[in-house]
Formats: sequence, C-alpha cells, structure tokens
Amino acid sequence: MAESTKTPAVIRKTAIPGPRSMALFQEEQQHLAPGTQGFALMSQLVMDHGEGSTLTDVDGNRYIDFIAGINVAALGHSHPKWVEMLTGQIKRVAVGSFTSENRVKVTELVAEVTPGDLNRVQFYSGGAEAVEAAIRLAKAYTKKFEVVGFWGGFHGKTGGVLGVLGSTFKHGMGPLMPGLYSTPYPDCYRCPFKMKFPTCNLHCLDFARDLIKTTTTNSVAAIIVEPIQGTNGNVVPPPGAMKKIQEIAKEFGALLIADEMITGFGRSGEWFGVNHDGIVPDIMTVGKGFAAGFPLAGVITTDKIAFTPPWSNASGSSSSYGGNPMAAAAARASIEIIRDEKLVENSKRVGAKMLERVKEFEKKFSFIGGVDGKGMLIRCEFVKDKDTRERLDKKICEGIFLRAIQKGLLTMAYTNSFRINPPLVLDEATAMEGLDILEEVFTETEKLLKN
Ligand SMILES: Cc1ncc(COP(=O)(O)O)c(C=O)c1O
Repeated sequence: MAESTKTPAVIRKTAIPGPRSMALFQEEQQHLAPGTQGFALMSQLVMDHGEGSTLTDVDGNRYIDFIAGINVAALGHSHPKWVEMLTGQIKRVAVGSFTSENRVKVTELVAEVTPGDLNRVQFYSGGAEAVEAAIRLAKAYTKKFEVVGFWGGFHGKTGGVLGVLGSTFKHGMGPLMPGLYSTPYPDCYRCPFKMKFPTCNLHCLDFARDLIKTTTTNSVAAIIVEPIQGTNGNVVPPPGAMKKIQEIAKEFGALLIADEMITGFGRSGEWFGVNHDGIVPDIMTVGKGFAAGFPLAGVITTDKIAFTPPWSNASGSSSSYGGNPMAAAAARASIEIIRDEKLVENSKRVGAKMLERVKEFEKKFSFIGGVDGKGMLIRCEFVKDKDTRERLDKKICEGIFLRAIQKGLLTMAYTNSFRINPPLVLDEATAMEGLDILEEVFTETEKLLKN
C-alpha cells in the first residue's frame, strides 16, 4: 500500500531557508568544493529527516518531495522495512564480497522482475561505473569497440561515457575516447527534423542508421539508449522507437544497452522502461531506485553475454563496494517493497492522475508546453511561445523553483526542461497537494510574465 495522507503534508515553521539551515549551509560553504547539485545549492536548505514523500529541514519546515533525490528515493524517505533491513545488516557485517543471503535473494529477484532472459546481474556502486562496465562487456562480447548514444542522453560523468553524452556537458573535456558517436533521440516535441509522428515514420532512426553506416568504422559494439530520457527532461519516445533502435543494433551486429538507471524498478509505471515497447535488450544498466538510496548500480544481461572473458574472469567485472552486504540488504528490501506494496502500479495510477492535472496546466498557462509522461516520470517544458517552443529564460525557471520551495514543494522547476519525479510511494492526496502548490506558483509566474 502507498502511504495515505489526510492532513496537509506541508508544515511551515520559519522563513525559508530558516536560520538553522542558513547557518549550516554557510558553514559548509567554507570548505565544500564547488559543483554539488545546483538545486541543493540554490535552496540553501539543510534536511533533517524524511518520511514517505516528505522531507523536513533542520528548522522544522516540512516539504513535499517531487525530486526524490533525482529518482533515487523510490521508496520515499526512511521506509521502515528498508531502515530495518539496513540497521539489522550493519550490526552483522557491512563489508566484503563474499556471498550473502541477501545477495542471493537479490540475484533471484532481479531475474524475476526483468524481462526475457536477462538473468545475470553484476553489482557496482555508481551508475557511470555500471555503464562503463556494460560498455566493457559489449566490447568483450562483440570484439568491436565503437559505441553510439543519443542526443540528450545522459550516462554519467566518467571518461568512458563522456563521448556518448548527447549534451554540452562534455565541452572542455576533450580529447574524448575514440569511437563514440551520438545521433538524434526520438524527441517528438523537439524534433530536430521538424517532422511529426507518426507520419515521420521515425525518420530520426533512419537517420541514425545512415549515421552509423557513414560515420563509424563499422565496428559498433553497442548502441546505448535511455528508454525514456531522464536528465534531458523525461522525454518519452513514441511507441515503436525502442523496437526500431533494437533492429538497427542487430543490423550492425551491435548489442543494445538499455540504460534504465532512471526508468528501472517501476519509475515509468512498468518494472522497466523497455517493457513499454515489449523489447528485451542485450544489457540493462540499473541504479538509483535499485537500492532506493544505498549506492548500488548494476549490469544485467543474459547468460550467453555475461560469460565472456575477460569480463567474466575472476575479478574481471567486480568492484570494491559493489553488492556488499549493505547494498544487498538495501536492494533486497527495495525490490521486495516495490513488489509487495505494488509501487509499480502506484507509479502508473498516481502518475497518470498527475499527468492529467499537468496537462490541464498546459491548457491554462501560456508558458507550459510539451507535457507528457509515463508513470512517475512527467515532462513539462517551460516555453516563451507555444508555437516556436523557444525555451523560457533560466532565471524565470529558477524563480518558479524558489517560489515552490517557499510554499513547501521541492521540484525540479529550475530549468526549462522541468521534470516531475516523486517517490513511488506518493499517494494521490499528497500528489494533488503538491500540484496545488505548483498551480499557485504558475499563476503567479503567468502574472509576472504578463507585466
Ligand atoms: C540514465 C543514467 N545513466 C547513468 C547515470 C549516472 O549515474 P551516477 O550518477 O550514479 O553515476 C545517470 C545519472 O543521473 C542516469 O540518469
């Protein structure tokens, strides 16, 4: 069962940020290196504790959380069973790569919930590390070395993946690893070819095929794709797109890596993002909601692919913290809770209600366009003009973010590719309370824009 809230979730005790938050935030700024998450810096909030879909700061102000640690807090905050599993485990053994009972269970649970013959999992402690391991595996299996990603794609910040990020993030980071390419993602709201689905016949992917043919050395080990692009703004591709990407991978003898770091474990209203198109990729990378906050990521693949040396050699695909006893306890708790409390269904049901409401906002407000979503991944573009789709100035978006915080809502509105991704335990009443706040802020923003 998802949590249920009868009284308002938001509590306001002080000015925001309150005095204790401000003092601790300023103290940390004396020695913290720059570069931590922008929205946390902008908020200047210091969180004290969380419960379900809410977070409470050190001044006692309680917020509804539509960020969920950017899709990490699948179970919300401090889920009692997850806490019990972790506290029980830390008292027994926390470190080491020996088999643990929980890890045995996690391997079985992963095989149970993933599609098709994805029966083998290896564990890591960060998403980029898992993506790099997946690329190493694809290279080992295919004996090829090139990798193709998509515009807008995000797969981490380490050297081996920078070249497949389809964004400006890699500027100034060259030289990149050779053999990495990217091609337009099927983003119909911002189609680079200015075409319309379905009459376009997924032209962008025909372009991808041509790009691979003409730009690579025909040694493509893998195509890596997010089934819904998270960091790029919860961009949902049209139906059939993942299937076509898989066909293209097959044409070139490449493996398909579905990066399910965000979409995995119920986030999109299905266990995995690929389920929407009914495909089984060769490799899946997972993280974030996998252990619901304990740092754990994974590479999931078939028996046939996994047993490829040197990846499959003893110590060939391992890491220091991957799948340690704490991670295994957290992942077991996370997957069991998602399954037993029907959080995939909750994500689909409450997510659909939220999407319906955000679609009303699109009709009501002049600066909202491109509303779309699946489950608890909702896209909402802030635009200057609905026809040209020119993006709203970042300063205005930041204003929306800060106004929402003042009213008790934490949400990723600081950028014009606004995305809503609450904890999967979010109940309908709290979802609507959060969206009421958003509507108030949008109403104020509309007035500001008209003046
Ligand atoms: C799709 C995807 N892959 C990989 C990563 C990298 O994960 P991490 O930040 O744990 O390295 C992210 C992070 O946001 C992601 O969204």
